[in-house]
Amino acid sequence: MRKPIIAGNWKMNKTPAEAKELVLALAETVKDADCDVVVCVPATNFAAVKEAAEGSNIKLGAQNVHFAASGAYTGELSADMLKACGVEYVVIGHSERRQYFGETDKTVNLRTKAAVAAGLVPIICVGEMKDEREAGYTDILVEYQTLMALHGLTEDEIKNVVIAYEPVWAIGTGLTATDEQANETIGVIRKAIERKYGKEVADTVRIQYGGSMNPKNVKGLMAQPEIDGGLIGGASLKAPDFTAVVMYNK
Ligand code: 13P
Repeated sequence: MRKPIIAGNWKMNKTPAEAKELVLALAETVKDADCDVVVCVPATNFAAVKEAAEGSNIKLGAQNVHFAASGAYTGELSADMLKACGVEYVVIGHSERRQYFGETDKTVNLRTKAAVAAGLVPIICVGEMKDEREAGYTDILVEYQTLMALHGLTEDEIKNVVIAYEPVWAIGTGLTATDEQANETIGVIRKAIERKYGKEVADTVRIQYGGSMNPKNVKGLMAQPEIDGGLIGGASLKAPDFTAVVMYNK
């Protein structure tokens, strides 16, 4: 059975002092969680979060990684740099990076390979825009995004990757995919992985849902057989909300 993984994506929020306060609170409230718990935070908060999470079950994640090992890439961070700061997970290809920062399926693949090579677990984001869903292209799009991101990885490496299905129209909008829509599209992603890499890989890889996931809708989403967790934006910024999401089965 796949162990669920619930990750907060703080996006561009919180100072180190605020980060410390939130993680110290969570360290108490999520300590009995049955899922893996991750917070993906701005790099300016790595040290504060690492310190506050010491001895707890909360793992540190980043929100992006460059694909080069080092060099003239002003403003970027390499996978080894993240690793040296205690980062274990990294969000790759979030729709906000695709929309605002020129991220492509090709660069998502390069970043994924760099992350895996450094021993980081990538959380690869895929998902359709509203007009793409309405035009009937959701399945073909998420299949392509997923397979392109994984291209060149070994089957064992793919087993350890996390995919986050985040319909772009559900992010930060308060609109959530229905439980059935999310389950169905995640099933499509898993089938695509199965066709290319076999059933064992497809049955092992964890696929999260993301997009306005919150304390109210988490139970219904997590009850779906294909959904292995969540990538949480807004509801990860407050201890009571994120706690309620992470402890959805308590
Ligand atoms: P919201 O939960 O705020 O909709 O954000 C989802 C998201 O983008 C997580 O990566």
